[in-house]
Amino acid sequence: MKTEKQLQIRYTIFESLADLPAEAQTLMAEAVAARHNAYAPYSKFKVGAAVLVGNGKIFIGSNQENAAFPSGLCAERVAIYQASTQCPDEVIKMIAISGTAEDPTGQPVSPCGACRQSLSEYETKQQQPIPVYFMGAKGHIIRTESIKDLLPFLFDGSLL
Ligand code: THU
Repeated sequence: MKTEKQLQIRYTIFESLADLPAEAQTLMAEAVAARHNAYAPYSKFKVGAAVLVGNGKIFIGSNQENAAFPSGLCAERVAIYQASTQCPDEVIKMIAISGTAEDPTGQPVSPCGACRQSLSEYETKQQQPIPVYFMGAKGHIIRTESIKDLLPFLFDGSLL
């Protein structure tokens, strides 16, 4: 016997920054600013991320590359690890991400698999979803209300 099931993911498309809720708009502006400071001499692909925590503080990150390629780190993880380091007991309210190659495009840049896994750790920890807003250099923005929409069947500590 076999059973086939389907999973649905939910996401929202915002046409422009002006359509975002105010808090998300502020956060995305921080992510865009952080993107400009990315250290990406090898890929020339710049990503900025900003994390808002419960006490209102914002932690930013940009991708940091390295001549030994695997030693680099994505913007999202730079930001979320900083948030958890500085404010370990605060809830993570949301993350905003903006990424682009040298030629700016409107293609939204969603977090890579490793970043989804890292973000999911904090969602599991706080038992509260973390909305993820992501965009390219311009154009529309996508929001998922939970990491689970980006990472079905996620691996978490309950499996250990
Ligand atoms: N990158 C990020 O910072 N975040 C992602 O979610 C996707 C990829 C970075 C890693 C590397 O420095 C460059 O973008 C190209 O992969």
